Amino acid sequence: MAYKFKRQIFGFMDLLRFKKMVPTREKMLAEGSAKPLPKTYRVNETAKILHPGMQDAELIAIKDETADMKTYTFKLSRKMMFRAGDYVTVGHKIGGSLVSRPYAISSSPLTALNEGTADVTIKKAGFFSDWMYDNAKVGDTFRIGDPSGFFYYDGVRDRKDVVGIAGGSGITPFVCMARAIKEGSEDFSLTLFYGARTEKDLAFKQELDSLTGDKFKVIYVLSDEENDKYEHGFVTAELIQKYAPASYSVFMCGPQAMYSFADKQMEKLGLGGKYVRKESNCVGVRDVKPQQFTLTVHIRDEVFTVKADSRETLLTAMERAGLNVPSKCRAGGCGYCHSRLISGKFTIAGADKRRMADIKFGYLHPCCSYPDSDMEIDVPAGESD
Ligand code: FES
Repeated sequence: MAYKFKRQIFGFMDLLRFKKMVPTREKMLAEGSAKPLPKTYRVNETAKILHPGMQDAELIAIKDETADMKTYTFKLSRKMMFRAGDYVTVGHKIGGSLVSRPYAISSSPLTALNEGTADVTIKKAGFFSDWMYDNAKVGDTFRIGDPSGFFYYDGVRDRKDVVGIAGGSGITPFVCMARAIKEGSEDFSLTLFYGARTEKDLAFKQELDSLTGDKFKVIYVLSDEENDKYEHGFVTAELIQKYAPASYSVFMCGPQAMYSFADKQMEKLGLGGKYVRKESNCVGVRDVKPQQFTLTVHIRDEVFTVKADSRETLLTAMERAGLNVPSKCRAGGCGYCHSRLISGKFTIAGADKRRMADIKFGYLHPCCSYPDSDMEIDVPAGESD
């Protein structure tokens, strides 16, 4: 449709309005507040707390929990908001490489906001945790990542009653949840089955006992020790039925062997799908014949050539070579290390968690991919601040 221009003639009133424009503005400016404009706005401050990014944090305390578990308290340089059950990456320079691992936060969400600290509890089992045990000292500075994860209560998805199954250091996200329920930052009921070998292996026992109430109870299950105070054996379907409410969602966190056993119990209970959540474990070493490959890595406009071992993931190979590459979950779940395959063959640890589009357009997750040949990949640069 053709636009019809409407001819208008400036009239006397227009001239009057034009003449008044400057004095009107001057009057408005004179009436305005003399207070200087704020340097920052609440919405920006909230966004910074929700997404603090990588930050330096000072290690201010180390506490023994059991013979092979310690809690490390970090003083954050920026405030952090997270959901009970989230994890953070903890990183440090080791032999010229920035090495990091994800750990569930064991302190409560309000502690991070009010006191500016966050605790992670680490079991001595693996390269980085061994290093922490032997080298980390109060006063050292670490790189702490954004809080992340999917292992948290969601009122839309989950039933109001949650049954938790914890094994070993898998207790840490549940300690955070129990603390959050007590302080009121989470609103659900948790019945926690905590499996350990002996009484001495139960971390946080005193505190867990003190947190029990209407919305939180804990059942200790010892596999290698018979003791009248505790259940004996493993967390079976029968044991869950003995203590659990009528309907519930199940959250589990622990070693792979515990998941294999628990999966069978879930079948017996007729539970599956959205009612069962499992925290992912970091991908470890592959049990194959050692072979050495060449990995060519493109990061922005730089190209690096590094050695890759058939038993280690591509991410480990790049970190070992001192490259600053992104990682969070190290389990193929968060997509943070998402990289483009240029050439080569690889095997994915466990289930392929990539999206269909990633598979179609040749993307992979270096954190859970082992090289089967020389490879060339295009990787995003890691965060530097
Ligand atoms: S670090 Fe999470 S998918 Fe690779």
